[in-house]
Amino acid sequence: MKKLWGSRFEGKTDQLADRFSFSIAYDHRLAKYDIMGSLAHARMLGKCKIISQADAKKIVAGLKKIGKQIDHGTFKFDPQAEDIHTYIQSELRKIIGSAADKLHTARSRNDLIVLDMKLFCMVELITIVNAVALLQKAILEFAQKNKDIIMPAYTHLQQAQVVLLAHHMLAYIEMLERDKGRLMDAFERADAMPLGSCALSGTSLPTDRDFVAKELGFNAVTRNSIDSVSDRDFIVESLSHLAILGMHFSRIAEDLILWATREFNFINIDWSMCTGSSIMPHKKNPDILELIRGETAGLYSNLNELLVLLKGLPLTYNRDLQLDKPALFQSVDKVKEMLALLAKLFSGLQVNKSTVKRRISDEALFSVDIMEYLIQKGVAYREAHDIVGNMIRQCTDKGKKIADLTEGQLKNFCPKFSPDVKKLLNPEMSVKIKKSLGSTNPASVEKQIAKWKKFLHA
Ligand code: ARG
Repeated sequence: MKKLWGSRFEGKTDQLADRFSFSIAYDHRLAKYDIMGSLAHARMLGKCKIISQADAKKIVAGLKKIGKQIDHGTFKFDPQAEDIHTYIQSELRKIIGSAADKLHTARSRNDLIVLDMKLFCMVELITIVNAVALLQKAILEFAQKNKDIIMPAYTHLQQAQVVLLAHHMLAYIEMLERDKGRLMDAFERADAMPLGSCALSGTSLPTDRDFVAKELGFNAVTRNSIDSVSDRDFIVESLSHLAILGMHFSRIAEDLILWATREFNFINIDWSMCTGSSIMPHKKNPDILELIRGETAGLYSNLNELLVLLKGLPLTYNRDLQLDKPALFQSVDKVKEMLALLAKLFSGLQVNKSTVKRRISDEALFSVDIMEYLIQKGVAYREAHDIVGNMIRQCTDKGKKIADLTEGQLKNFCPKFSPDVKKLLNPEMSVKIKKSLGSTNPASVEKQIAKWKKFLHA
């Protein structure tokens, strides 16, 4: 296939060099964006009388034909083409003849590829934000279905205090909401149209970049042609936000993996999201969650790849920049798969209510509540901490329960104790007495659920 830069070249390029440098194998994914950009560009060239209206019309008609083939999945990519830009232009020439030679006026592949990548990125960012919202909905439904369940919460992976399971689920929803914010932030910063910067300096031809931006639905036009063709920040930002999103997936996966162990046995993951063992017939392994945790490593390395790729590059365009694509495509594809799987997994998740209930019987889970009881009776925090610590240690040592202590024994620990303190040795009470904003108090968790429901279904 004729190269876009073939004319001044003496001799043929090496076959191995061709194979090493061609990007069509992966950048064919940008075809529809390349067509969108070219349509807007051709219309602008005609409107600004840089090419005749007749030629502009021919180009537009030809591009639309190719666009239809792409939409229908019938457009075949020639692996002999250097890249998607070269290929589309050669196909266009086959359809409309020599008018196709005018399409590449007042632009270069340097600005075109940034345009294609920005359009891809922006569309995928929105797609991912919507998929994150679907995952949030699945988690919210799971929370609502199990809104009365109280479970132990952990610090240092040691039982700490009791919380509502729904409260823990709402924490996931908060994390994911921040992810959506970051992704939209990247979208907004990417939203500036680079085409027309040409190779790097702009053009002497009377173009109208604002027109192209409007045609393509961009909010703004990039201000500096040198920056326009050099900038890949929008990819780094996207990969970075996807890496953080993956970190969240991985932490959620880790919680669920732990909760599904025989030792915890809080939840049952649906069989459809598990696998068995080839040797141990009893096994039900949470492989999908483990792979979600594992694939997060790839999201980090893709971000790292871009950062390393860019760090030593002089402005402006260098061919290294071609290698930004596999990393971005892979992260986008993986994140979308992970989102769909997690949403399915939450829909099929079952809580083992009786086991969870048995795990919230340890009185130590209410130590903070007892301490705060004393604080409310005027005991200083430090002293209250000592008193309750001492009481729990002695009870544990003697195999006794606080619930069985007599009034006299209680008063021996602290005269401020009355028998009513025993009301606190109860998980329902423990969550109910929480008052602070954002706490696990059931009424406030219920309000949060309602708030999220309204927000996510808006
Ligand atoms: N395939 C190239 C890329 O992805 C397109 C831009 C080529 N520009 C150039 N000056 N060789 O970056």
